[in-house]
Amino acid sequence: MFFWKRAARRRPPADLSSWQGSGPQKRTAILDDRERLSDAPYLLPKDAQEQNRLNFQHRCLYSAIGNHYLVPLPPDVTTILDVGTGTGIWPVEMANLFPQAHIVGVDLSAASLEYTSSSSYTFCLADVLKGLPFPHQQFDYVHQRLLVAALPATHWPSVIQELVRVTRPGGWIELLEIGVTIQRAGPETAHLLTWMGERSRERGFDMGLMPRLGEMLAQQGLEAIESHDIPVPLGEWAGHIGAMLKANVLSAFDALKGTYCTQANMPLEHFEAMVTRVAQEWEANHASYVFHAAYGRRGKP
Ligand SMILES: C[S@@+](CC[C@H](N)C(=O)[O-])C[C@H]1O[C@@H](n2cnc3c(N)ncnc32)[C@H](O)[C@@H]1O
Repeated sequence: MFFWKRAARRRPPADLSSWQGSGPQKRTAILDDRERLSDAPYLLPKDAQEQNRLNFQHRCLYSAIGNHYLVPLPPDVTTILDVGTGTGIWPVEMANLFPQAHIVGVDLSAASLEYTSSSSYTFCLADVLKGLPFPHQQFDYVHQRLLVAALPATHWPSVIQELVRVTRPGGWIELLEIGVTIQRAGPETAHLLTWMGERSRERGFDMGLMPRLGEMLAQQGLEAIESHDIPVPLGEWAGHIGAMLKANVLSAFDALKGTYCTQANMPLEHFEAMVTRVAQEWEANHASYVFHAAYGRRGKP
C-alpha cells in the first residue's frame, strides 16, 4: 500500500510529521543582496524575488508548451512526485488536473514554498542528492524540472537512479531543463554563455549535459524514451511569450550574477553591461532559447 494511504485515500500518512520536518534545515547567507543556501551546491537564490521568478517561469513555460507535463499520463494516475518543487505551483496545478491523485513535492528548503500541504498535496523536505525518503516503487509519475543549477554533473546518474527507485514498474519519469542552446545567438550571447558555462563548470556543474537527458534516462534502464528540444522565442520580437521568456531569463541571469562575479572577481557592472548587449542581440536576431525534455517508462519485471 502507498505510504500515505495507510490512514485514508488521498490523505497524507499519519506519520507524515515525523519525516516532513526532519529533512535538512539549510543555512543561508547573503551575497549580492540575495539570500542563498550556504550548505548546498545550489547556484540560485532562495528569496522572495526568486520565488516570484519561479512562479512567473511556470506561467511562461505553460504558455510556451501548452501543458504542465509531456508524458502520456493515464487519466487515473494516483501517485505523483515532483522533485525540487520550488514554490509548489506545479503540484498544485497538477492536483487540479488530476483530482484523484495524491502529489508529493520534495525540496531541500521550504524557503520558496508558497503552496503548503493539502488533502491532495504533501510537501516534504528532502535533499535528492542524499536520496529520497520514500520506499521503492511508490509513484506512477515522477517529475523533475529545472534542477540544472542544483545538481552537479557527477550526480546526475545517481539522482536519476533514485528517481527510478521510487517509480513503480510501468510508471513514468519526466525531466525538463534549460541548457546553453540559444538559436540565432549572436557573438555577444555566445560569449556570455561560454563565460557562464566556465563559471558553472568550476563549481562542478555542466549545462552542456542537458541535451542528453534522454541518453541519461536510457543509461538507468528506462524504456519508451522520448526526447524533445523545445525552442521558445526569446524577446519582445515574438510578442507575449517571447517577452515573458526574456524577462525570466534576464531575471535568472541577475540571480546568478552575484555567485559568478564573486567567483571570477568581475565587477557586477561589467556583467550587467554584457547582459544588456546580449538582450539587444536577441531582439535583432530573433533568438529562441531551447528547453530540453525527456521522459521514459520504468519497465515491468
Ligand atoms: C530552479 S528551481 C525549480 C523549481 C521547480 N521545479 C519549478 O520548475 O518551478 C530549483 C529548486 O530545486 C531545489 N533544490 C535544489 N537542490 C535540491 C536538492 N539537492 N534536493 C531537492 N531540491 C533541491 C531548490 O531549492 C529550488 O526550489
